[in-house]
Amino acid sequence: MNFSDSQIVGSIMTDHDFETTDNLADADLIFVNTCSIRDNAEKRVRARLQEFKRYKKQKPGLIIGVLGCMAERLKEQLIEEEKMVDVIVGPDAYRDLPRLLSVAESGQKAINVILSADETYADINPVRLDNNGVSAFISIMRGCENFCSYCVVPYTRGRERSRDPQTIVREAEELFSEGYREVTLLGQNVNSYKWDDGTGFAQLLERVAKVNPLLRVRFATSHPKDLTDELLHTMAAYPNICRSIHLPVQSGSDRMLKLMNRKYTREWYRQRIEAIRQILPGCAISTDIIAGFCTETEEDHQDTLEMMRWAGYDYAFMFKYSERPDTLAHKRYKDDVPDEVKSRRLQEIIELQQELSFRSNHADIGKTFEVLAESVSKKSGSELSGRNSQNKVVVFARENFKPGDYVQVRITSCTPATLRGKVVKELHNGHNPGALK
Ligand code: 5AD
Ligand code: SF4
Repeated sequence: MNFSDSQIVGSIMTDHDFETTDNLADADLIFVNTCSIRDNAEKRVRARLQEFKRYKKQKPGLIIGVLGCMAERLKEQLIEEEKMVDVIVGPDAYRDLPRLLSVAESGQKAINVILSADETYADINPVRLDNNGVSAFISIMRGCENFCSYCVVPYTRGRERSRDPQTIVREAEELFSEGYREVTLLGQNVNSYKWDDGTGFAQLLERVAKVNPLLRVRFATSHPKDLTDELLHTMAAYPNICRSIHLPVQSGSDRMLKLMNRKYTREWYRQRIEAIRQILPGCAISTDIIAGFCTETEEDHQDTLEMMRWAGYDYAFMFKYSERPDTLAHKRYKDDVPDEVKSRRLQEIIELQQELSFRSNHADIGKTFEVLAESVSKKSGSELSGRNSQNKVVVFARENFKPGDYVQVRITSCTPATLRGKVVKELHNGHNPGALK
């Protein structure tokens, strides 16, 4: 989401005669787009700011701006604590950047952290920063109103609002004509996408899938409570909608899920996974897990491990609970699981997931997948790296293929993180989202 927002900021700044540079020493202006989701994320931003100080010493006119969730959460406080910061801009105020910059250029501190009920930046054509020319993000909605008790996002990103579907489809069409072959539709909870004309997420996904059969479509993230069978059937009807669903479970314990205000039970979650398995055979499922949330017992933790084993996740993002100021959990519950217990539980979760990921990759050996080549492999110039529909990284011999090509690859070996295989034949016209064999 931040990556996508930075591209919007890039576009606004380009329209005001700035250009990007890879060299910090060259910059007249440094923006850092920030995340507040865990304390660690904020610590990293603060360390980064210290690093920028050096450049400001060398170039006193250098302007440093903090954008995004940390700007929104801390507001003026951030300027008081980090004196080198000149500009503070929340996620809904990027259109105001040129004005804020002129304030900063006059030597004053500039701040805009007003949240909006309707800003979607729909008319702004993102500058595609730092990308491979094959896959791109399209932001389809902003904000979140789910108020999971541990989460700061509803406070920093504000009200939920969807973007006009026409502008989304147009962006996908333009990307395709520029040579892109994969788009990822982004939102904090894509399943609550809703436009005034009645378009819901399933319809939107269908419209984007129809842009071209050779344009792959992915999306993130889905809240389990809103994952409908209708959406799964839409996915099943379009081979270019990727067979991969990110479905954050957070915990396998009903008691934890209730305290987290996730609005589903483990039983409901299991039924959603069963629906995916039935309607979309071969679909990869990934998840997010939080270890050590308030009052979590060994039994709750075992429930999470059991859920992981049952679901057999292909991939997971795993975190230690980090209390965020002003969230419901901060106000209502005690962050009472000792840090060493959180760390140990997280470690058990990570080890189990490594086993599950390896098992999932191992089961792919001998199967043939359609892979969208994305880039020359970092390790060896004679190899290409891409992903299959299930979002697994696949490495294969480069031959005469180039990024943007669809290639049939038979998997011959794997690590816990990557599949490796041999090219079977090139495929130009059509999709084979699942394994051929
Ligand atoms: N502590 C730890 N993890 C968190 N997440 C969100 N808030 C917190 C927090 N306070 C995780 C959730 C979410 C992912 C994006 O970040 O798992 O799905
Ligand atoms: Fe945070 Fe929950 Fe919204 Fe995700 S759905 S952004 S975890 S409040």
